[in-house]
Amino acid sequence: MATKEVVQRDSFTSKLGIIAAIAGSAVGLGNIWKFPYITGVYGGGAFVIVYLICIVLIGLPIVLSEFIIGRKAQRNAVGSFRFLAPRTYWYVPGLMGVTAAVMILAFYGVVAGWTLEYLLKAITNSFAGKNPADLEGIFGGFISQIARPIFWQIIFMSLTCWIVVAGIKGGIEKASKLLMPVLLVIIVILDTRAITLPGASEGLSFLFKPDFSKLTAEGILIALGHAFFSLSLGMGTLITYSSYMSKEENLATTAVQITIVDTGIALLAGIAIFPAVFAFGIEPGAGPGLVFITLPNVFQQMPGGYIFCILFFLLLAVAALTSSISILEVVVAYFVEELHLKRRTATIMSAVGITIIGFPCSLSMGVWSKVTFMDRTFFDWLDFIASNILLPLGGLLIVAFVGWILGREGAEQELTNDGELSAGYLPLFMFLAKFVAPLVIAVVFLHGLGLF
Ligand code: PHE
Repeated sequence: MATKEVVQRDSFTSKLGIIAAIAGSAVGLGNIWKFPYITGVYGGGAFVIVYLICIVLIGLPIVLSEFIIGRKAQRNAVGSFRFLAPRTYWYVPGLMGVTAAVMILAFYGVVAGWTLEYLLKAITNSFAGKNPADLEGIFGGFISQIARPIFWQIIFMSLTCWIVVAGIKGGIEKASKLLMPVLLVIIVILDTRAITLPGASEGLSFLFKPDFSKLTAEGILIALGHAFFSLSLGMGTLITYSSYMSKEENLATTAVQITIVDTGIALLAGIAIFPAVFAFGIEPGAGPGLVFITLPNVFQQMPGGYIFCILFFLLLAVAALTSSISILEVVVAYFVEELHLKRRTATIMSAVGITIIGFPCSLSMGVWSKVTFMDRTFFDWLDFIASNILLPLGGLLIVAFVGWILGREGAEQELTNDGELSAGYLPLFMFLAKFVAPLVIAVVFLHGLGLF
């Protein structure tokens, strides 16, 4: 009897831990920094609608597909495919995932470094009395420097590396379980302030009133890519994390919960930012600086703004950290498995390599901003190739694997926990997994690249 109780309590704790880890991976800079910035660049409401369609029709089925693969195989991304489809080329999506992880973490670490600089600026009250133009100058002046952003990038990457080496994920999970709700509360407070600013309604209509004439093929591809980026999809993160999920977990419920939380936080971040963008006369298409320029303005307009500003950048850094460890894990797991490196060596090696690849990303905000190829800087290229090519392709292969290789029986077994749960949505899921998701990804993809 006693043993039974212990077992049950254990599985309950780890169940919460795994969900916290998955939510921690999904919620990050993608929601609060990238979503508002690309929404601004690609024209607002219509982009948001396409993004939401991508989340429901493609994102959700792929979250579920990664869960099915990971929990069935109980292995990391490459190993799972090797186990479920031995002696085939199905491990290739795993390798693509590792490549995407390297590229994403290279620029992710740079932006995460910015949040640390802004945390310091918030603590030292550097935004006090500054107008929107000053704040734009502060941001531009900071990211175009050579040493300072790189210094913060190195600090952030060291933190990521340290956590992955020391395996104190338990601590981070506990911390993020506590901290993420706090982040949510702060965003809601920010939302309340933002939508009561004079002129705020223009920002809300920018975000929610679609103007389809502003929508481009490239915009649709970016929306699709961001659905993958934001849900941590297409590169095996969720395969790896779900391999630790208990066999009692209801995969579909978990997938829906994670998707709602992730999308909700992105929308709330948009609601905090766009009304303020219009109220302060900031350019919505300002690019990667949007959040960093806009929010310090809002904090200045609210009581207790000094404290909220510190808390916000602290929590943004933590949210970035719980995502960056999940990205580094993909690379480390691969090196440990395939090259049989020690975990510590593999982690330090990949973190150092990725940080170095990040240097030109950081420099492309300043001294190398004119070094472009087809109008994209090094930073933009890494983001574009990883988020808009490798993740969607990886996702296509993952969902097609579940639809066509594992098939209905294989999926049903995981989704119903061997017949324990009912899964009335199974035919719909199979239809999405076999046809809709792969087809839509292929069309958007070829169209966005101008090949179709
Ligand atoms: N989803 C994370 C974010 O929104 C980024 C991420 C991408 C994490 C891919 C893991 C894998 O910030």
